[in-house]
Amino acid sequence: MSAAFVHRFEPATAAGVAPVLLLHGTGGDENDLMPLGRTVAPGAALLSPRGQVLEHGMPRFFRRLAEGVFDEKDVRRRALDLANFIADARERHGLAAPLALGYSNGANIAAAVLLLRPDALAGAILLRAMVPLAEPPRIELNGQPVLIVSGGQDPIARPDNAVRLADLLRRAGAAVEHEILPAGHALSNLDVALARRWWNEVGSRTGAALVS
Ligand code: MLT
Repeated sequence: MSAAFVHRFEPATAAGVAPVLLLHGTGGDENDLMPLGRTVAPGAALLSPRGQVLEHGMPRFFRRLAEGVFDEKDVRRRALDLANFIADARERHGLAAPLALGYSNGANIAAAVLLLRPDALAGAILLRAMVPLAEPPRIELNGQPVLIVSGGQDPIARPDNAVRLADLLRRAGAAVEHEILPAGHALSNLDVALARRWWNEVGSRTGAALVS
């Protein structure tokens, strides 16, 4: 039984395109990434839940003990809740498995879903992501495409940590592209350009394969 997530859903306006699951950063909500989703994946159905954890009033997708130190028991629980929410939404709206587009805390929960419930996502764009679990289970990803975009000067989601995440996902069988931009933790126009390019070349094809 999945907990109810406050969320927004926008149906697809184009055929044969994978749906996109939008996952905001700390302090964001279900509205934050809608414009980014429309820019990166035009025509795709957009499903955008709000994180259920509050940190000093700021929504997040899982608890943390300190900056960059995650409550891993909570990460596991919340990743499964999110996977159940995705399954329910797929049934309700008749959707194929979505590609996640997550920023910061949203990218971290997307990485956790990939590691804990690999069949829940068709792939992912992870902007400023980190390794979400110190000891992830041994899993087999099915060649899911993953784009990780890090900021070279990011003091929070450090690029060396994202390199470990890329290795972890690659070893599990994902098709990972990892780009490091001259940026910090905040998103830049380059992130948007990279995500759009990757979507056009890889993400939208994933959608076509899923519905054919
Ligand atoms: C996290 O807690 O997921 C990361 O530190 C990113 C953040 O939300 O600041």
